[in-house]
Amino acid sequence: MKAMVYRGPYKVRVEEKDIPKIEHPNDAIVRVTRAAICGSDLHLYHGMMPDTRVGSTFGHEFIGVVHEVGPSVQNLSVGDRVMVPFNIYCGTCYFCQKGLYSNCHNVNPNATAVGGIYGYSHTSGGYDGGQAEYVRVPLADVGPSIIPDWLHEEDALMMTDALATGYFGAQLGDIVEGDTVVVFGAGPVGLFAARSAWLMGAGRVVVVDHLDYRLQKAREFAFAETINFTEVNDVVVELKKQTDWLGADVVIDAVGAEADGNLLQHITAAKFKLQGGSPIALNWGIDAVRKGGTVSVMGAYGPLFSAVKFGDAMNKGLTIRTNQAPAKRQWPRLLEHIQAGRLSPRDIITHRIPLEHIAEGYHLFSAKLDDCVKTVITTD
Ligand SMILES: NC(=O)c1ccc[n+]([C@@H]2O[C@H](COP(=O)([O-])OP(=O)(O)OC[C@H]3O[C@@H](n4cnc5c(N)ncnc54)[C@H](O)[C@@H]3O)[C@@H](O)[C@H]2O)c1
Ligand SMILES: [Zn+2]
Ligand SMILES: [Zn+2]
Repeated sequence: MKAMVYRGPYKVRVEEKDIPKIEHPNDAIVRVTRAAICGSDLHLYHGMMPDTRVGSTFGHEFIGVVHEVGPSVQNLSVGDRVMVPFNIYCGTCYFCQKGLYSNCHNVNPNATAVGGIYGYSHTSGGYDGGQAEYVRVPLADVGPSIIPDWLHEEDALMMTDALATGYFGAQLGDIVEGDTVVVFGAGPVGLFAARSAWLMGAGRVVVVDHLDYRLQKAREFAFAETINFTEVNDVVVELKKQTDWLGADVVIDAVGAEADGNLLQHITAAKFKLQGGSPIALNWGIDAVRKGGTVSVMGAYGPLFSAVKFGDAMNKGLTIRTNQAPAKRQWPRLLEHIQAGRLSPRDIITHRIPLEHIAEGYHLFSAKLDDCVKTVITTD
């Protein structure tokens, strides 16, 4: 089969690999029909994620058709169209029982923090991902769901991560009716978080980024006010000015460890690896939220020390909430919103690229070329 293969930072290509085999009775093999590239894949692509092994296949957003099932699989049959959440989890451990699917205790021998994630380095279990023609889906009775007939395949694909994560980011904000919600980052996760904030009762939604074409998307898709942080002297002061000098009720960080906007942070993180990443968006969030407010962190950060303004967070009495999204937990509500016509997730997709040309897809998305917001990988 053809699969995307990592060959080192900024080097990915398509190679021939064996079709994965059933390794455990509850495995399924899924023939991938659509996959996507996530902002999280860029951290791997840029060589920022520890233990990203050469030869591995990325891809944690994918849908497909069940090709083979192990002998204990009961919920799926060959031929079923399935959407697969980006988390691999057992569904029965202490954490899964609390709904913390992304923190499953049984699927990742290398870490006590994150559980299993498809195609997301050996720090997330070392599983191969779905940017390929076939993928092994462990614990097939737990993660995947059959795609309802009425659901557009690209909407199903968005449910596997970006949409569920944006929605989860808004949920963790504990938005109260009328709240002012500021979202840092107008990528797929930020756009979905901003749109979700309205569904949860926000009174105002402001999106911050430095890419004008993405801010335009934030206005059109998420009905948000926007600020280009390069066009104001100080984005925190600007946000304070726009919120009666109190600050936002809720901030959502949809940027993560590769934030732009502060050269010193960038150099110490990206160049000298002195920090696990540049926490500039997170620090702006801590500064821009009001005292007693909530900062929801969806942006991904490495485990190492970063110069986060934790003292300010403490002294302002902030609530900081974060996790890798337990994607499937959001599905029931998201399906309702999509079916009722309140949400059309596929509207954020800008590029559809065949698997053979995935290297170009990574390059476009990483360098933010050709107004790229979200890239779908096709296999037929
Ligand atoms: N928690 C989870 O479960 C989860 C799931 C998916 C993605 N993520 C993470 O969410 C983040 C966003 O993902 P994405 O797919 O939207 O990625 P993306 O790269 O498309 O979007 C990030 C956006 O942030 C903008 N940005 C950079 N610096 C900024 C700053 N200082 N202030 C405001 N905006 C800034 C960029 O211009 C870009 O538009 C990534 O870190 C990704 O790893 C987390
Ligand atoms: Zn992702
Ligand atoms: Zn578990």
